[in-house]
Amino acid sequence: MKNSFKLIFSIAIAFLTVFPGKGQNNFEPGATWPASDGKHINVHGGGILFYHGRYYWFGEHRLPKNTEKVQTDGVGCYSSKDLYHWKYEGVSLMIPNDTTSLLTPGCVVERPKVIYNKKTGKFVMWFHHELKGQGYKAAMTGVAVSNKITGPYRYIHSLRPNAGQWPLNYSKEQQSDTLTERSLKKWSPEWKEAVKNGLFLRRDFEGGQMARDMTLFVDDNGKAYHIHSSEENQTLHFSELTDDYLGFSGLYIRVLPGDANEAPAIFKKEGKYYMFSSGTTGWAPNPGRSAMSSDILGNWVPLGNPCRGNEKNVKTTFASQSTHVLQINGTENFIYMGDRWKPEELIDSRHIWLPVEWEDGLPVIKWYDKWNLSIFSYEK
Ligand code: GAL
Repeated sequence: MKNSFKLIFSIAIAFLTVFPGKGQNNFEPGATWPASDGKHINVHGGGILFYHGRYYWFGEHRLPKNTEKVQTDGVGCYSSKDLYHWKYEGVSLMIPNDTTSLLTPGCVVERPKVIYNKKTGKFVMWFHHELKGQGYKAAMTGVAVSNKITGPYRYIHSLRPNAGQWPLNYSKEQQSDTLTERSLKKWSPEWKEAVKNGLFLRRDFEGGQMARDMTLFVDDNGKAYHIHSSEENQTLHFSELTDDYLGFSGLYIRVLPGDANEAPAIFKKEGKYYMFSSGTTGWAPNPGRSAMSSDILGNWVPLGNPCRGNEKNVKTTFASQSTHVLQINGTENFIYMGDRWKPEELIDSRHIWLPVEWEDGLPVIKWYDKWNLSIFSYEK
């Protein structure tokens, strides 16, 4: 009797280790979130692609602290049918042990996103790429491609986008402005005005524009866009990708010049485009921002902080930074996905998922300790 009790107990423990949280159909923002391997989901600054009945979550695959001073070994992937339970699919883009490549251990790979190209049948991954030993100076974007959603992805190259191209919303008069950084004191009102007017855009015209925090967005007509913090993180660029999604078409706009937006996440509802973003305070959270436009390459209008609730939550975006807004397949419902960064142990950074709700026709985010998808049945 004693032995059979022991046996049942061991089987139960083994089951819970392999399928932790089985049957728990809830999101608990900020809690550890074990996947099928029993470990906390290790994809950060990521995004989700829905394909053939499953959700695929890609993100920064972080290594435990001080792993030979290397913070990541590439882009990780998990998959799920229901958004609550995730299967670890492995590392989709592995940083190779190749010192001749820009993609080499010790480089920074952040905020990766994957999209599917219906015309070519290929999966395309873009990511923020900083070069080994250069901090955040390089400000490049990298691209990789695969025939299979989970990978392995083949790294193509990294670049600074739109070299030799002016944005669609930058006038001839602005293009010929001769003002340079030298004559300006950093952060002075004159400097801010000059930055807003494209000081860094002009500086980087020939070599290509800086690309740091990034996301991708595919519109209903199949056109895809690469959206990133540019111009020393002071201005966002929305750039159209080529039809195969592997390059920049040369069409792009500056968005909210001088407003210093990072962590952009784009979604579309009833023909209108929305963006959640953050300010620029590194790993520390700051008040969230939102904006709206009726055209993806149009006039983006700021809507203010989308967070609702107590002061602390509103000031810190629930202690998180946006990374993606997930549209639940086949619905007009959306989930805010954010990272609660733990810079001292990035692998343990927490996932903050909250429902996007609507207030006077505008998207807002509220805190829930625990919630599930049934919340959306109350939405109109
Ligand atoms: C944040 C950015 C993160 C990461 C971090 C490094 O501003 O959103 O993705 O780059 O800085 O300090």
